Amino acid sequence: MILEKLSLINFKNYDEAQLEFCPKFNCFVGNNGMGKTNLLDAIHYISFCKSFFNAIDSQNIKHDHPFFALQAWIQKNDETHEIFCGVKRGHKKQFKHNKKEYERLSEHIGLYPLVMISPSDIELIWDGSEVRRKFMDSIISQYDKVYLEKLISYNHVLHQRNALLKQFYENRTFDSISLEIWDEQLVIYGQEIIRIRKHFLEEFIPLFIRNYHFISGSNEEVSLEYDSSIKDISYKTVLLAALPRDRASHHTTVGPHRDDLNFKLQHNSLKKFASQGQQKSYLLALKLAQFELIKEKKHTKPLLLLDDIYDKLDESRFKQLIELVSGDDFGQVFITDTHPDRIQAMFEKNHSQHLIYLVNNGSIQKHG
Ligand SMILES: Nc1ncnc2c1ncn2[C@@H]1O[C@H](COP(=O)(O)OP(=O)(O)OP(=O)(O)O)[C@@H](O)[C@H]1O
Ligand SMILES: [Mg+2]
Repeated sequence: MILEKLSLINFKNYDEAQLEFCPKFNCFVGNNGMGKTNLLDAIHYISFCKSFFNAIDSQNIKHDHPFFALQAWIQKNDETHEIFCGVKRGHKKQFKHNKKEYERLSEHIGLYPLVMISPSDIELIWDGSEVRRKFMDSIISQYDKVYLEKLISYNHVLHQRNALLKQFYENRTFDSISLEIWDEQLVIYGQEIIRIRKHFLEEFIPLFIRNYHFISGSNEEVSLEYDSSIKDISYKTVLLAALPRDRASHHTTVGPHRDDLNFKLQHNSLKKFASQGQQKSYLLALKLAQFELIKEKKHTKPLLLLDDIYDKLDESRFKQLIELVSGDDFGQVFITDTHPDRIQAMFEKNHSQHLIYLVNNGSIQKHG
């Protein structure tokens, strides 16, 4: 799978830009704040129908402009596919595949898989459980459509159940029959989500551990544990037992929407005890395992986006990573850097096919 061309109109700090890419390394080079990461984000839009950074579509429109439009041409299985994304203030987002609008955006997820490695990955360690659930869900959703459907249905039922609990609380009423209708569906979808997440982790964890040892060059013991409010007992039993608490707090306090992942190094919390370098290696290993698993499931090499990777790694580890992603196990790579000479020298040394774009305040020029 190769992203051949990308065109942007009024996207973030760009007026208009057209880029062609090579099948291996594509680098965006420039000073801080020039628009390098914005280009990676445009590519992210094409794969996920949304920004990696900003969930509010209209905030990705260039300030004081009425709309943005992105267009991409991707080669996959010997055919070129055209993808269009348009966002106009006050209108529904338009997303088209080969000029045909999707009925539901979820149909697009997973067709053109992508893995983004970004400095903001640190949120996986520092932020609340929601980001870790999203991390898990976003990987599974790229290769398992049924999972994504179940997740959407679960969230819908959860929303309805919470609204009913709130209504009971505000009106000082309670009606177990109408609650049971939602409970039944919540349990059906919820148990499936838990089962699929457990299965995902069984496959993911060995890949993660192998990648950690490769990146860190050590044999340190790392682990990733599933932390669920539903353990050995059925979701139905746990949900029933939690009813008094759910009524008092007027929302659903147990279920896969509260799941978490525990990151550990040498049996201790990664967040509390690991060094910054160890944390960075851990995050990189998570992302490389994500890449491997999606590649295996989808039989295609995801696009790999490396944002500010120098920020994460020392010189030798950076070289090791570039060496790794230069190989045949990886496909097309997009990378940002602030030093044109550094990146040019590295690619010339390892003889990889590469293209360098100089990014200067929303304008882009080919280098060399
Ligand atoms: N909706 C928008 N309209 C106009 N400009 C925007 C919008 N959103 C972001 N920007 C601008 O984009 C610029 C940031 O671009 P980007 O994050 O791509 O920089 P960068 O080249 O990756 O920099 P760094 O090296 O610091 O990471 C900022 O100047 C920001 O103000
Ligand atoms: Mg950046």
